[in-house]
Amino acid sequence: MFGAHVVLVNDSSFNSDEKDMTGPKVIEILEKNGFNVIGKSKVSDERYKIEDELIRLAAEKEIKLIVTAGGTGCAIRDNTPEATLNVCERIVPGLSEEMRRCSALKVRNAILSRGVCGIRHGTLIINLPGNPDAAEENLEFIIDLLPYALEIMSEEKIDCSKTGTQRHRR
Ligand code: MTE
Repeated sequence: MFGAHVVLVNDSSFNSDEKDMTGPKVIEILEKNGFNVIGKSKVSDERYKIEDELIRLAAEKEIKLIVTAGGTGCAIRDNTPEATLNVCERIVPGLSEEMRRCSALKVRNAILSRGVCGIRHGTLIINLPGNPDAAEENLEFIIDLLPYALEIMSEEKIDCSKTGTQRHRR
């Protein structure tokens, strides 16, 4: 069972006791899909605060997946993608491309989400939008791929043609 952590990125929720609607939805999907959600935290939209939090969490041995929610739009304080790119050694563009592709079929504004996905020190980081429904929809679009992604991330090299790995079909 892979350990996961959820980070809410939002100035307003960080500064108030406003009820969090997004975290519980994200956690529910993760748990339903076999992840062990170890924790949830909140950070402001300050870029270096987001980076510090991602660095801290990726250093935790049990956390293999970090899911952020919020700060992916085009507003001046939307800094989550830049913070994520800054701390990741490698990006996994297909995951965010798939989220935008599937989302845009439902909500055209989804094209404006700049979320990215990447790997830091063997931990996969996924950016979701902050709205509860948007976060839920986006995560559902890729959740089936995450266990396999995490499995192969710990391998030195995978040759799917030799291992007989099943091609993933929808
Ligand atoms: N994706 C889906 N699937 N459904 C949505 O309703 N909303 C979009 C987009 N992605 C949306 C979505 C909107 S309106 C915005 S502004 C961006 O996500 C960025 O959201 P964020 O700034 O909260 O991260």
